[in-house]
Order: sequence, then structure tokens, then C-alpha cells
Amino acid sequence: MTQDELFKVLVAHCKEYGFIFPSSEIYDGLSAVYDYGQMGVELKNNIKSYWWQAMTRLNENIVGIDSCVFMHPKTWVASGHVAAFNDPLIDNKDSKKRYRADVLIEEYLGKIEEKMNKEVEKGRKRFGESFDEEKFRETNPNILREKAKYDEVHNRYVAAEEANDLKEYKQIILDCNIVDPISGTANWTDVRQFNLMFSTQISNTGADDDKIYLRPETAQGIFINYLNVQKTGRMKVPFGIAQIGKAFRNEIVARQFIFRMREFEQMEMEFFCRPGTEMEWFEKWKENRMKWHKSLGMGDENYRFHDHEKLAHYANAATDIEFKFPFGFKELEGIHSRTDFDLGNHQKLSGRKIQYFEPETEESYVPYCVETSIGVDRMFLAVLSHSYKVEEVGNGETRVVLSIPAPIAPVKVAVLPLVRKDGLPELAQKVIDEIKYDFTYQYDEKDAIGRRYRRQDAIGTPFCVTVDYDSLRDSTVTVRDRDTMAQERVPISELRSLIDSKVNLANLLRKL
Ligand code: GAP
Repeated sequence: MTQDELFKVLVAHCKEYGFIFPSSEIYDGLSAVYDYGQMGVELKNNIKSYWWQAMTRLNENIVGIDSCVFMHPKTWVASGHVAAFNDPLIDNKDSKKRYRADVLIEEYLGKIEEKMNKEVEKGRKRFGESFDEEKFRETNPNILREKAKYDEVHNRYVAAEEANDLKEYKQIILDCNIVDPISGTANWTDVRQFNLMFSTQISNTGADDDKIYLRPETAQGIFINYLNVQKTGRMKVPFGIAQIGKAFRNEIVARQFIFRMREFEQMEMEFFCRPGTEMEWFEKWKENRMKWHKSLGMGDENYRFHDHEKLAHYANAATDIEFKFPFGFKELEGIHSRTDFDLGNHQKLSGRKIQYFEPETEESYVPYCVETSIGVDRMFLAVLSHSYKVEEVGNGETRVVLSIPAPIAPVKVAVLPLVRKDGLPELAQKVIDEIKYDFTYQYDEKDAIGRRYRRQDAIGTPFCVTVDYDSLRDSTVTVRDRDTMAQERVPISELRSLIDSKVNLANLLRKL
């Protein structure tokens, strides 16, 4: 299966097993908006719980808040979102479709990169063991030609981006003969800026100053509550405030399933520190967040840092943690050193003194801030895309299994009476009574046991517990492990501790 095909199958699997549904599907759906089903909500809650506990339980100096989606409109002036949270858009006059001009150019550059990589692969095959990739890239005429093209367009693109030169964006698109994938024509409009914030009205008078935004990031809810938390929590710098919540962006190029949505959820933590110490904290949070990701056991090789070359005006350092999704390495989490940009601007615009008095030095200052920001939905996609596997199980049969890390699996145990009679369902109920206070479970008595195992594999249940005739006699059950498919006989009285040793979230937290 190609990665493209795998992705399509994964999307279908998510729907079939109640993880993710297209929103408003009975009305043919709503673009880039998705609902989480009965399995999805459990997995999503577990991801959030792991993040929340890692932040607020393992760090004495991090507390959480839950601020509103609606905030005073000045919030977004201070944060820079009203002036600068824009995408450069271009329309094709023939297809009437709208695109992000920067994405069209980046995709064009991506294709050149792909061509060069293909050339390298051909060379590797041709020269075998003696292949020297670096030398090949420096000397192969096809690669050199493509590289020159790449550099020319890339330099123009970077310069246009820096100067916010919309005319140059269009000129690059025309010069590179980038056509609309639908109409196949280069009949483009001019490039315009489009603000990504959704707005609505707070009252029903319709007046202009009633305009209010749906927050495009949760972070500002933290900044505007900085003073409240610092004072009421008697927090001493350095300290952090964590928040999980919905964010909204009118994404124009909404693609790749739940990777880029219009309504999504973020887990953000703003860490406030003394000016001058921010780089040290930036490095610490980079390491800390990477450890959190790797603790899930989804392959260290699937993560990498991508440091930003071009920094946003408010940042003095920035990196992304990228994950290898089926469509390549892409941003999963952002870590930014945001200086005193946000608190400083809120101080200016609100007229309130937002400063910290440091008793040791008797100095007052606006704290600097290091931010860690991860999308819940992207994390969900990372977990699912890594977990989905089709495995040979002998006799030409296959099984679909989601090898979701056990502590965040939606259902931890399935309890299955071998048959629907002779007191087995009743004993299975007693087993459920033993475990239901600790673990999410499913009871299933329909179909042959093998089919029931397959259903649990497909939703990633780490353990299946089968109650059979021996269970009636000796109070033991068969426990089947999802990943190895190995079965062992276990006394019912030991079931709880056996399952707990694999699925307890504390097992993950202890690795951090
Ligand atoms: N407060 C900083 C901030 O919002 P960002 O890079 O725009 O930074 C942070 O977003 C994270 O939020 C991203 O790394 C990604 O995981 C997630 N995210 C951003 N836009 C998203 C979207 N449209 N759909 C899903 N997740 C998104």
C-alpha cells in the first residue's frame, strides 16, 4: 500500500469504527470540520489527560486554567492577529477555486525537490555500495539544473514573503507556469490578504463595535489572565500556565483530514521567566516536549526538530516538533520563545501594569515567555496513523490492528463470554464488576471469539478477557494481548493488577 492509499484507508477506518465523522454528514458535511465519535472522544480525552498531567502534575510551578473562546476584541489587536494573521490568497478565474498563493509556490518547490530526490535514488541503484550522495548532488547535471531552478524561485519567494509583496507572489506563480489543478489554466486573479479569524457579534444591535472574534489560539486567554493567576496563586517566576481548548481559524487550504481544520483544539503552555533566561528555558522545554512524545513509543525516528530560520516579529527563537505523518514530516507542535511581546502589548493597550516584582532582586519587569503549543487533533492523527497496521496472521489471513499506546487506548479491556449460555455471561458480568471502576471496557457476546478479537483489534483494545467453562470451575480467565496475540490464564482476582500494569497513565508519566 502506498502512503496515499494508507491514508485513505485510515480515514475510512476512523469512520467505520466510530473515531471520526465528517461534521453534519447528513447534509453532505462541512469542509474541514470533523466530529469525534464514541471511540474518538475516549482517545482524545486520554491524549489531553496525558498532556495535562505531564504539565500540571509533574511540574509544581505549572497550573492550569480554562478561559473563554470569546475575549475582548482589543486582545487580538494587542496580539497582532487583527493586523497580521493573514494568508495570501489567489483565485483561479476558470475553476472559481481559491488557493493560498504561498502554498502553490511551496508545492511547486516541493515538486522540484521530489525530482532531485528521484534522481538521487536512481544514482543509488546504479552505483550500489559505492554511492556517495553528497558528491552525486554536487555533480549530477540533472540535479544541478533543478537545484538552480529551485534556488532562484526559493530566493524570490523568501524575499516576497519578507517584504509581504503580493504582486511578486503572483509574478512567481505566472513565471513558474503554476496552473490550477482543476481547470489546468493559469488564469489567476491578483493575490489578496485574507484574515483567518472568524468573527461574530456579541449583541444583536449590529453595530460595528459589537464585532467579536472566535479565538484563533488559546494562548491569549493565558496572557490576559497572567495577573489573576500570578496573584491569586502566589506564583513565583519562573512559572507556567497551561490550557486546553478550542481554537478557530478560517483555513482556506483545509486538507489532510484532521491535520488542518477550521475548528480544532490546542494544548498550550506559556512559561513565564526572567528576561535573559528565556533561551535556557527554551532549550529545556524543547527537550521536555520531545521526551513526552517519545515516551509514547511511536518510534524515535519519527520525530525531528525543525528550527525556524525566519522568526516571527515577536519571537527570538522558534522550533517545530515534526512527526512523520503518512504524507511526510509535518509540524505537530510549536515551541516559541515569545519574549515579552504579548504581556508587553496587553500592558500597553489595557493600561494595566502587567509586571512581576522579584523579591530577591527587588526588581520589577514584564516576564519573558516560552510557549509550547500542540494541536490535540494533530496528535490524534499522529497516534492513529502510526498505530494502524494490517498484519498477516497465518493461513493467508490478515487482521487490522490499532497498536495505540495502551495507556491512551480508548477501550482498555473487552470482556467476552465464550458462549451466551450456561452461566458464562453472568460470570463475565462479575468480571466487569471487578474492573469497571478502573478501566474503560466493552462487553461482547456476539459472533465467534475470533471475530470478536478482530473487532477489538480494530479499535486498539490492549486486552481481551475470555470467560469459558474452566472459569466456572477455577475462577481463571484467558487474557489475550493485542500486540502479541499471546494468551495466558490468569486468576480473576489478579486481573485488575495485570491490566493496570500496562494501561495506567502513570506508567507513561514515570518515564518523563
Ligand atoms: N499559540 C501559538 C500557535 O497557535 P500555531 O503554530 O499556529 O501556534 C500551534 O499552532 C499548533 O496548533 C500547531 O503545531 C498544530 O498542532 C495546531 N494547529 C494549528 N492550526 C491548526 C489547524 N488549522 N488544524 C489543526 N491543528 C492546528
